Amino acid sequence: MSRGRLAALAVVVVAACAPSPRIEAVPAAAPPAWQVRARGGQVAIETGTRDLALNDAAACRGCHAGIADEWQHSRHGLAWTNGIFQREYGPAPKPWCVNCHAPTTAQQEGLATGDDRLAAQGVACATCHVRGGRLVAKGRAAGSPHDTVVDASFGSPAFCADCHDFTFPILDDAGRAVAMTDHPMQATVTSFNAGPYAREPAGCLTCHGSRHDHAFPGGHAPDMLAGAFVVSWCRGADALQVELTNAAAGHRIPTGDIHRHLLLRVWRSSAPAGVWEAFFGRRFEEADDGGKRTVWDSGLDPGASKRFPVDLAALADGDPEADPAEPLNLELTYVYIADEFPRRDRIPSEPGTASVVRWREPLAAIPPCAPAR
Ligand code: HEC
Ligand code: HEC
Ligand code: HEC
Ligand code: HEC
Ligand code: HEC
Repeated sequence: MSRGRLAALAVVVVAACAPSPRIEAVPAAAPPAWQVRARGGQVAIETGTRDLALNDAAACRGCHAGIADEWQHSRHGLAWTNGIFQREYGPAPKPWCVNCHAPTTAQQEGLATGDDRLAAQGVACATCHVRGGRLVAKGRAAGSPHDTVVDASFGSPAFCADCHDFTFPILDDAGRAVAMTDHPMQATVTSFNAGPYAREPAGCLTCHGSRHDHAFPGGHAPDMLAGAFVVSWCRGADALQVELTNAAAGHRIPTGDIHRHLLLRVWRSSAPAGVWEAFFGRRFEEADDGGKRTVWDSGLDPGASKRFPVDLAALADGDPEADPAEPLNLELTYVYIADEFPRRDRIPSEPGTASVVRWREPLAAIPPCAPAR
């Protein structure tokens, strides 16, 4: 036995002979004031009051009209009524979905009696700001009439994670989430925390508005999309080089809902069958635990680029007579939702895709690629 081991043994023996110290119960750190449930939306958000003055956004509008207007047209304000959600939810309503798209107990009690007035407000003022019957915010203004609970972590990435970062659920026959799996469903905050923006003091609010902006623009805001993706193309010897970069998102692109994906396409109008296409998004497979797991993910982390050679002969679909002067088309499409169960009676009330970049140029007008270094 080495000296070190002997000495260690001696300490253990001494400790064993000493009177046993009193074990203090260490109080568990209190959860933040806004946190009333675990991630994944297994239960509704309890605001701790049924008073409409606190649960109804219309009551806040009287004094916070500017904020209420921004919020009303945001995806938060539209979380219950928007056509894309209703198209998915309507044909197969599951109580689990309601816990994030009309999350408060007051909204859900209304729905149970056929009154959707509060639910139609989606992710509303009370969803984020009311807990235990009081307002919760990051600070309290001197002139505030509210009995506000001040919580420094209000609006932090952990706060957003309540709805923006969760794993696949296990649903019972009634569509209630009885357990959560280990497989990520939405991982926006995890991706943000692993990336270069994690140290930004304003967290998600660095890019998604600010404390004075309740529009929370994201994938449905054309200028957010236009700034997020940088596409470039150049002319090589017998291939076009096409590149996509995640230039401005603080997390992987696409992020959020599982249906989200990007399609980058290049084609000649006279040979549509020769279209070249790249898919950026995730593919899933049934998992043993009853959820789903990601088996393929071609998204791009913050700052990452992916470059592809596009064979010019293949674009002409094998036609030797193809006109070399015919312009080439390039399009980057952002897909919110792909209709997996198309039915004639399900007319979407808003577009399922957005065109982010659309170019049409003759080959000669596309810049030559810089020689490889
Ligand atoms: C009678 C007017 C009035 C009503 C109604 C009202 N507020 Fe306020 N609120 C204020 C004023 C004044 C302030 C402090 C200065 C400011 O931010 O404009 C404030 C501040 C806040 C703050 C920042 C924290 C604080 O205490 O300073 C939040 C969050 C807030 N209100 C949310 C709400 C929500 C949510 C509702 C509806 C449930 C609501 N308010 C209804 C007047 C009102
Ligand atoms: C998705 C969550 C969310 C929703 C919904 C929401 N807020 Fe906020 N609110 C925030 C965040 C985050 C902040 C900024 C916290 C900070 O100071 O960093 C904030 C800040 C505020 C402030 C303080 C602004 C200031 O200038 O200091 C007021 C007032 C407010 N919200 C009112 C409302 C009202 C009224 C509604 C409904 C019309 C609403 N909020 C809906 C998350 C939300
Ligand atoms: C109570 C749940 C909840 C919380 C908390 C929450 N969100 Fe959301 N958020 C949603 C839902 C649900 C949607 C999608 C609504 C829809 O389009 O159907 C959404 C949509 C968004 C969008 C728009 C995405 C798009 O497609 O354009 C952004 C951006 C966003 N949230 C950012 C945030 C940030 C930042 C925070 C934290 C400050 C936050 N959210 C907190 C539930 C929440
Ligand atoms: C550096 C800027 C930046 C930061 C920081 C950032 N985002 Fe984003 N976010 C973007 C851009 C740009 C887009 C639009 C591109 C897209 O939709 O993929 C976006 C899109 C989104 C969307 C919409 C995704 C979709 O499928 O349409 C959500 C939701 C979102 N962000 C939430 C968050 C949350 C939550 C955080 C904090 C954990 C955060 N973002 C931090 C820039 C940022
Ligand atoms: C744990 C919270 C949570 C639950 C539960 C949840 N969602 Fe969502 N959902 C979100 C968030 C956050 C977004 C916004 C992400 C984004 O923009 O990509 C979203 C976005 C969506 C979108 C895209 C909406 C748009 O504006 O493009 C659809 C559709 C959707 N959810 C359907 C559902 C359905 C159907 C269920 C139930 C089976 C469900 N959601 C359950 C949080 C949730």
